Amino acid sequence: MAARTRKATQTGQEAGSEVRGRASAAVSAVLHEGRRLEAALDYEGLGQADRALLRELATGTVRWAVRLRAVLDDLLDRPLPRKEKRLEALLLVGLHQLAHTGIPPYAAVSATVGALTGKQAWARRLVNGVLRRFGRERDDRLAAVDGRSPALRHAYPDWLVEALRGGYPDDWEAVLAAGNRPPALTLRVRGDRSAYLEELAAAGIPATSLDGVPEAVALEEFLPVGALPGFAEGRVSVQDGAAQLAAELVAPRSGERVLDACSAPGGKLAHLLDRAPGAEVVGVEAEGDRLAKIRQTLDRLGLGAAELVHGDATTPGAWWDGRPFDRILVDAPCSGTGVIRRHPDIKHLRRPEDIPVLAGRQAALLEALWPLLRPGGRLVYATCSVLPAENREVVAAFLDGHPEARPATPEADWGRPDGPGRQILPGEQGMDGFFYACLDAPEEAA
Ligand SMILES: C[S@@+](CC[C@H](N)C(=O)[O-])C[C@H]1O[C@@H](n2cnc3c(N)ncnc32)[C@H](O)[C@@H]1O
Repeated sequence: MAARTRKATQTGQEAGSEVRGRASAAVSAVLHEGRRLEAALDYEGLGQADRALLRELATGTVRWAVRLRAVLDDLLDRPLPRKEKRLEALLLVGLHQLAHTGIPPYAAVSATVGALTGKQAWARRLVNGVLRRFGRERDDRLAAVDGRSPALRHAYPDWLVEALRGGYPDDWEAVLAAGNRPPALTLRVRGDRSAYLEELAAAGIPATSLDGVPEAVALEEFLPVGALPGFAEGRVSVQDGAAQLAAELVAPRSGERVLDACSAPGGKLAHLLDRAPGAEVVGVEAEGDRLAKIRQTLDRLGLGAAELVHGDATTPGAWWDGRPFDRILVDAPCSGTGVIRRHPDIKHLRRPEDIPVLAGRQAALLEALWPLLRPGGRLVYATCSVLPAENREVVAAFLDGHPEARPATPEADWGRPDGPGRQILPGEQGMDGFFYACLDAPEEAA
């Protein structure tokens, strides 16, 4: 594979091959080692354009890998030797460029073959032959694979297609398609949204407000955050519109005691503090190294008032001082199936057997945290999942065991009613897939 660090003397062709080599390493890390894509991308020494190309090639290949693997199987006379994992990943990167990008085919093929420095001639011949053949027969090859199943057409694992088909008999295919459309960037504006939209327009950055989400602004194109007016000063945060609804539903008020039970990296915690600077906000997080991320988030925004606790929210006995909370947000760990459009590696990293385990943790969080609520207080349950097993079924089972809890999810102009909560499907109103349910504790008997 190509050398790791780009040299000053590298030609454009060599740099292009190096990017393909790095993309194939990241794709292989996800597909063959089960690593997260973000952690596997190596940007070191690359300029801005090459970084963007690396991100696009690796993310796009991971997004479409199920479909591309089927195309590759059809094109190969015999399966690749099992140990040739990087070679498979490079072939997928090559096919992705030809199938889904506007990169001219000759440039895509030569840059991809060029990533094979040090490889034997057979490998170069194979990659060259497979990619050229696909270039000639592209539409027929894709149509043949797409006709076999929705899972191949939309590039999802079978189990997830079946789970979505069961959950959304009318919309499952739209959900699959939406998960393949990467969003640009949604911001939370801390201040006057109209004035910020004017500021963006003056800077030549096209953007619109998101209906139903009072502080949200959606950019039409992706931009590095450093290019956003006011980002460094903390005037805006990057936060999806659906995630911004948490603070609307928790609706903290000054003087109230508020628990954010699963709080890293702190996006919703910061929003709660912005909404009610006079509230006493406690953020709990189980993973110690993620607490630093919350601090970074709060520091950038100039918010210092939260009490941060390293602890397991399912065992409050270890960290709770016994003073009840007026409001509790449970932004539960989940499958992330509502944010596949941002994180396509979820298609490969999640397994069907994970879902009941996650549902068990979500139920345990509700059970453990409900008693911490004061009489008349409100708990908001949230996930970025689109699977009913993590959403309406978890909350419905909790309500079965707690007849005193009152479902209190409001009518809204976002999402759809779903059992005791509301479900947003990915892409609806420009938002990620999210589930919210509000539960009110009974007032104390007089
Ligand atoms: C969906 S993320 C929360 C995102 C966060 N609320 C935000 O808006 O930035 C879930 C978080 O819960 C944490 N977590 C998982 N299980 C937990 C537990 N039992 N107690 C506390 N935190 C937990 C995870 O480490 C992860 O950081």
